[in-house]
Amino acid sequence: MSRDFRGAAAAFVTSEAAVAEPPREFAFSDADFRSLAQFAHKQAGIALADSKRNLVYSRLSRRLRALGLTSFRQYREHLAADPAELESFINAISTNLTKFFREAHHFDHFRTHVALPFVQGAHAAASRRLRVWSAGCSTGEEPYTIAVVLKREIRDLDRHDVRILATDIDTDVIGKGVRGEYQANSIDEVPKTYREFFRPIDGKRESANVTLDEEVQKLVTFRRLNLMEPWPFNGNFDAVFCRNVMIYFDAATKTALIERLTQKIKPGGWLYIGHSESLIGSHPGLRLVGRTIYRREA
Ligand SMILES: C[S@@+](CC[C@H](N)C(=O)[O-])C[C@H]1O[C@@H](n2cnc3c(N)ncnc32)[C@H](O)[C@@H]1O
Repeated sequence: MSRDFRGAAAAFVTSEAAVAEPPREFAFSDADFRSLAQFAHKQAGIALADSKRNLVYSRLSRRLRALGLTSFRQYREHLAADPAELESFINAISTNLTKFFREAHHFDHFRTHVALPFVQGAHAAASRRLRVWSAGCSTGEEPYTIAVVLKREIRDLDRHDVRILATDIDTDVIGKGVRGEYQANSIDEVPKTYREFFRPIDGKRESANVTLDEEVQKLVTFRRLNLMEPWPFNGNFDAVFCRNVMIYFDAATKTALIERLTQKIKPGGWLYIGHSESLIGSHPGLRLVGRTIYRREA
């Protein structure tokens, strides 16, 4: 074999290896990935398949840089030793994609089956109570969408006891929800009839960030809540939105969560799940009544 050929073969092998395993800033072994994936599952129910290796690497690399660490092994040690790191770990690995009026037919259904019946019944009673839960609310677009639908239909909201609970495991997104400030283009897909509830923060600029009317914001209470842990609230909900959250859970976690959610819905109340999700197993307490819409049996 000529020296040239051996050189070329060696270069080929090297470049192949480089394609298979790109050089990384931080050492990241299979054992690191498996251990972090197990931890995410144990703490948050989040199932990280092998295909999520690069995602885990890139999201946690920021934490390693911020902490001045040089390998994922060191990061694992830090995570095991410092309970405060759990919050940053969860915030880094959770996926928070959302938008106003996402999967809009749920809000049409919510309007006609929850908001309007409430208004009709409200004529009879002086004050009535309505509770909605956005479980896995991310940065707040989902609970604020629920809020503008209610605000538009229930014009005398002050007379009634109407509240939306918005919870998420990720403290960063909860903070954004509480601030309630969004980029101007985030309301591009908000139907015109609901635009009246949004206003620019700096009224003079067209591209200014937007926020929601104070009365709409007041309807929503944000709390950090891990759905895998006990839920510290009493009373049941007229409707629960748990959309695009279970998509990250495995079948057993999903089944157990749906059972618990069902118990928190009033008889005759509603459960909305994400369009790409389905309920695993049989849930005798729930009846499918529309696309990804379930009703708790009376
Ligand atoms: C993709 S977002 C969905 C937001 C919104 N529901 C929607 O459909 O637009 C999923 C959210 O679920 C949250 N999440 C994931 N695991 C959770 C858990 N164990 N407890 C509570 N929230 C969780 C994530 O932090 C994230 O904000």
